[in-house]
Amino acid sequence: MDIYYMFVVILISFLCTTVNALPSKTFDVVKYGAVGDGKTDNTQAFVRAWKDACAYGGRSRVWIPAGGTFLLRSVSFEGSCNGSMAFLVKGTLKAPTDPAAGDFFTDTWIGFRYISDLTVKGGGVLDGQGHAAWPYNDCHSNTQCKPLPATLSKSSHINLFACDNINMSHITLRAPADSPNTDGIHIGSSTKIKISHVGIHTGDDCISMVSGSQNIDIHDVSCGPGHGISIGSLGRSHEHEYVMGISVRNCTFIGSDNGLRIKTWAPSSYSVASDIVFQDIVMKNSRNPIVIDQQYCPSPPCYLQQGGSSSSAVQIKDVTFKNIWGVSSTKVAMKLQCSRALPCRNVKLININLAYDGPGGRATSMCSHVIGSSSGKN
Ligand SMILES: *[C@@H]1O[C@H](CO)[C@@H](O)[C@H](O)[C@H]1NC(C)=O
Ligand SMILES: *[C@@H]1O[C@H](CO)[C@@H](O)[C@H](O)[C@H]1NC(C)=O
Ligand SMILES: *[C@@H]1O[C@H](CO)[C@@H](O)[C@H](O)[C@H]1NC(C)=O
Repeated sequence: MDIYYMFVVILISFLCTTVNALPSKTFDVVKYGAVGDGKTDNTQAFVRAWKDACAYGGRSRVWIPAGGTFLLRSVSFEGSCNGSMAFLVKGTLKAPTDPAAGDFFTDTWIGFRYISDLTVKGGGVLDGQGHAAWPYNDCHSNTQCKPLPATLSKSSHINLFACDNINMSHITLRAPADSPNTDGIHIGSSTKIKISHVGIHTGDDCISMVSGSQNIDIHDVSCGPGHGISIGSLGRSHEHEYVMGISVRNCTFIGSDNGLRIKTWAPSSYSVASDIVFQDIVMKNSRNPIVIDQQYCPSPPCYLQQGGSSSSAVQIKDVTFKNIWGVSSTKVAMKLQCSRALPCRNVKLININLAYDGPGGRATSMCSHVIGSSSGKN
């Protein structure tokens, strides 16, 4: 069957604990008229259940029972609510496959907005029906292309925008390796995000962090297939962009296109990526295990190739790669290509042990415009 899905046992909660005197209360979507037959449109039933739950002053639980497959169109669950909220997915949520459904081209399938103190969990499945939408992704050739819904396999699976204090764990995200732009988790303008014990197998970045990502802690994540964990791209807009305070620890990359990557445009706005640590990482046949690319050019020809000479004005500094080992599937296992105008500063390489097992000898590395140090076994 052509169904790509994700298991969700998300634990998203915000640190705004209210002490409620009222008992907790369950709002079962079935009691609001939802039918788990995979065909009935349940959007309004879910919205009614959410609204009542949101109005309740104690702990509310919106309950999606096990056993049912609930067809749900594009929907946004919004606050602010009167008490703490839980969204418990025990069954399966299914997105529509019919482009004639008016909401096929909105940017979100399931959105949560303006809420503090929310938990999303339950062990259920969110089936984004991405395969029905991917043929409509023509952004590589059409500059006026319509965005496909974020969240769940049509484009990004999970998109965190303007979020603060979120913990996510025990989630599996799945989309085929050749599906377009299916980032696993995309983070922007968000702070204090913890991601752990997550498996991400998609067609694009495993986790991507763009401008405004600050204080992000990622550990025990397995990536691949996909494009690895990336910071950026930065510097394309005319604004000052920044990413800082990123820690990626104890992660495994299996057959991923890239491993750890920082990418910036050239020319660019003056921007900063700093205070970044990649530590205890295993590469199992990653194509480009370590990459800093300050001439990011996803679809050539780009400015530099066309003879442009301004280099990237994104300052990359205080970056540590420590205990990175395993196998690179290409000969250049580490490629640090920094900006001529603003070289990378304080880059530390400690115990980088990457092998190349193809023809032509040992793994090599390439460095330009990098200021830093290396120690241990490299
Ligand atoms: C996230 O986890 C950390 C401990 O790892 C905890 O201190 C913090 O309060 C948690 N945040 C939420 C919103 O649950
Ligand atoms: C919160 O509770 C008050 C009083 O019961 C109610 O009037 C209001 O609509 C509730 N808020 C929401 C967002 O439902
Ligand atoms: C690192 O990850 C492995 C499995 O990938 C796990 O068994 C181990 O407990 C993790 N170590 C730490 C220190 O988190």
